[in-house]
Amino acid sequence: MIKALKYTKLPSALMALFLLSCGGSEHTADDEASNEAEAQVVVDKHSYANLNEVKTKHLHLDIATDFDRKVINGSVRHDIENLTGADKMVMDINQITVSKVLLDGSEETTFEVGDYDELLGSPLTIDIKPETKTVTVFYETTPDAGALQWLNPQQTAGKKHPYLFTQGQAILTRTWVPCQDSPGNRITYSADVKVPVDLMAVMSANNDTVKSADGMYHFEMKKPIPSYLIALAVGDLEFASLGQRTGVFTEPSLVDDCVYEFADVEDMVIAAEGLYGDYKWGRYDIIVLPPSFPFGGMENPKLTFATPTILAGDRSLVSLVAHELAHSWSGNLVTNATWDDFWLNEGFTVYFENRIMEEVYGKEYADMLMEIEYQGLEYENEDIINGEHPEDTKLKLDLEGRNPDDGMTAIAYVKGAFFLKTLEATVGREKFDDFLSKYFKDHEFETVTTEMFIAYLEDNLLKPNDVEFNTEEWIYGEGIPDNCVEVNSDKFEKVSDKCELITSVKDAKELNIPANWSTHEWLHFIRHIPADADASDLAMLDAEFGFSDCGNSEIMAEWYVLSIKKGYKGIDPHMEDFLVKVGRRKFLAPIYSELAKTDEGLAHAKQIYSKARPNYHSISYLTIDDILGWEG
Ligand code: BES
Ligand code: ZN
Repeated sequence: MIKALKYTKLPSALMALFLLSCGGSEHTADDEASNEAEAQVVVDKHSYANLNEVKTKHLHLDIATDFDRKVINGSVRHDIENLTGADKMVMDINQITVSKVLLDGSEETTFEVGDYDELLGSPLTIDIKPETKTVTVFYETTPDAGALQWLNPQQTAGKKHPYLFTQGQAILTRTWVPCQDSPGNRITYSADVKVPVDLMAVMSANNDTVKSADGMYHFEMKKPIPSYLIALAVGDLEFASLGQRTGVFTEPSLVDDCVYEFADVEDMVIAAEGLYGDYKWGRYDIIVLPPSFPFGGMENPKLTFATPTILAGDRSLVSLVAHELAHSWSGNLVTNATWDDFWLNEGFTVYFENRIMEEVYGKEYADMLMEIEYQGLEYENEDIINGEHPEDTKLKLDLEGRNPDDGMTAIAYVKGAFFLKTLEATVGREKFDDFLSKYFKDHEFETVTTEMFIAYLEDNLLKPNDVEFNTEEWIYGEGIPDNCVEVNSDKFEKVSDKCELITSVKDAKELNIPANWSTHEWLHFIRHIPADADASDLAMLDAEFGFSDCGNSEIMAEWYVLSIKKGYKGIDPHMEDFLVKVGRRKFLAPIYSELAKTDEGLAHAKQIYSKARPNYHSISYLTIDDILGWEG
């Protein structure tokens, strides 16, 4: 029976103690002292799980997809370890209906679903015994489950078959798998998944490369991973090999484009291994999803999930693959313990991504990419400092009561990467690389807090080399420290020179732009169009260079934002097509935000949004609902 929960939501300090104390027993000052003496206990503000008492070690999914009802149903079996002899196990669920729970495969047990919190969902508290070995939860998802996007055939490339994909990070796995949904616990998993016979299922696990005859797929992930990396995609998929251990899954009509775009992926894996040690996951494959995928990429282990908006046709946006690949070390091998430590995942990954790009394409190009990132950081840093949460410019965050997605800013990514770049410049590349290799080795398949990293840095890099470094300022201080290294690209200086001429020429041909400019030179160009350029200047540029419809998603998105600012309307039909088709939040949010700044723009945005919203994943539409004050 589902009963109301006994305890309501507690303030975090109390919650921490609750999680630390054994189920139901009275908390005393002695407990507190002994808890402090214990090896670090990490409290995750975004999970109800009682990981200090009971932990899942392995989970097995036995599920089927129901495309008519847009639900997943079946069971999940948790193989558990009871550390304290606890008589309750607490999991996270959100938008899930639990019908029954069995202990050790046969004995039905009681459970309670606690109060619902819009952000965190509910605690699922299950009565167990000290000797219980497995807990099996029978459940069904709801059609609006946050992780899942059910696409109708019209929303796919092939237009014939439906599609389903999941996005677990940060706290959405609990909307399709009842689990202890905290990055602080690692589990192995296996799955039996039943899908319609004309579709193929793939997961962040070992994958078949051809469709099965009966729609049944079996998966194994034998390395321990955090729950946010459990992922599933189901669609009309085909596989193509890229290299010895690399390949791509996508809809049949996109296979050739993907094979062309990703020609360098095997070299990236080799470069990454050369930098920081063996790739530990066996194969590295990529699935290119339909355009509604809310992110650029997601580092699901063995199988990166990616947006088709990186298929620029000229391989110019593949640094995104380097990024997701780099997560195979930073993030997937060594994982942030809580979402407040998110920069440990993303800052390291942006740094590592850039090193891969340097290995494969050379320093000049890598520096260009990094300078573009830095421009973004300066802009966002200003924005955050002047906003509601200036403390979000610290690397170590405090996201108590907030969505962990709020931490997805240039601070974690780019300030984090520049922190590492500045350390590299201070001790020299060789020592820094040795340090990073050792860091990944010493913490493989573990979770790390910011504080653990600081101590490790002190002991393994700074002290041995007798180096003083303002680590505290970088991590706990707001904004960008003064000793941040600079990157300067000569090529961008040439681009800036061209920009200065824009308002004084009558025809864009007079700018004499070289024919071989890369995507990133164009991005720099658009970003540096002088402040006094007006709509007619933009019309002149568009007539010559065709930005509005150029097919490169990064350029188009940047151009649309600027054009809205300047009141240049030539973009309108193209921007509308883009917004209706593409669901990548990083592009959508700035465009809708810019439109929302004027009454006329807001009305226009809402008119487009009413068509576009059904195409977006919940991660994107919840963000845009907010920006537009959308009430349906
Ligand atoms: N892990 C992130 C995506 C993510 C972060 C999802 C936080 C949910 C919560 C992924 O690796 C990522 O950073 N993607 C970027 C691309 C990258 C090149 C910066 C994206 O999607 O834009
Ligand atoms: Zn990332």
